[in-house]
Amino acid sequence: MLEIKELGKKYPKATNSALKKISFTIEQGEFVAVLGLSGAGKSTLIRCINRLVDPTSGDIIWNGVSILSYRGESLRKYRSSIGMIFQSFNLIERMSTITNVLVGFLGAIPLWRGLFFQFSKEEKRQALHALERVGLREFADRRVSKLSGGQRQRVAIARSLVQKPKIILGDEPVASLDPNTSTQVMSLLREINEQDQITMMINLHDVKLAKEFATRIIGIANGEVVFDGKPDELTQEDLENIY
Ligand SMILES: Nc1ncnc2c1ncn2[C@@H]1O[C@H](COP(=O)(O)OP(=O)(O)OP(=O)(O)O)[C@@H](O)[C@H]1O
Ligand SMILES: [Mg+2]
Repeated sequence: MLEIKELGKKYPKATNSALKKISFTIEQGEFVAVLGLSGAGKSTLIRCINRLVDPTSGDIIWNGVSILSYRGESLRKYRSSIGMIFQSFNLIERMSTITNVLVGFLGAIPLWRGLFFQFSKEEKRQALHALERVGLREFADRRVSKLSGGQRQRVAIARSLVQKPKIILGDEPVASLDPNTSTQVMSLLREINEQDQITMMINLHDVKLAKEFATRIIGIANGEVVFDGKPDELTQEDLENIY
């Protein structure tokens, strides 16, 4: 369970707060789409949850424990329970697909092994299994630079799967994909959500995709939650408040 409690974030020198006392609770296994205009605070929210930025007020409680005091080993452990996917994929272009998936183990293995990309047979087996799940088993040895955008995002999803995450955070993971490919990637995320009960919290621009795939929509405008409910409860008026 992820509890966001009156979360506030004001960047240094900014005149307005990026997040203003945001509160909501996400149960394990929910598929949440976060909607909002550019600048609404969607990325800031995700960065607070994975501790890339420190909130200025409020708290984030993960399974009963505040994550804001985590440092060193506890922070590393917490981060390795979160899968991250981005609009820009964040893959190593010149390396193979399988190596990029193995990168998902880096948070969980000793530093020296990670530095030399020394992975065990079992880790390689799990990486291949993850590639199988995203439909890219036969692309294991191909360089990422030779893959399409949709395939790259699926590599990133496979990379997050080997972490055995409890939650996957997506910062507009389909924003640079065409509509068909976006639907395929969202379907894959839903399949993983349903099969593994991994919580999904995905920032999206596209209302249609949010309605089709999410079990819950959170709308943010100017750093505040203006809608929180089921996709079929989202009215035209709610949309006007969001956009
Ligand atoms: N590193 C930063 N330093 C200062 N201000 C920032 C920083 N990052 C974001 N902001 C500001 O915080 C507010 C929220 O930005 P954020 O990136 O979270 O929005 P977003 O909803 O993700 O937008 P987009 O859809 O464009 O990605 C904006 O006003 C933005 O200019
Ligand atoms: Mg953003």
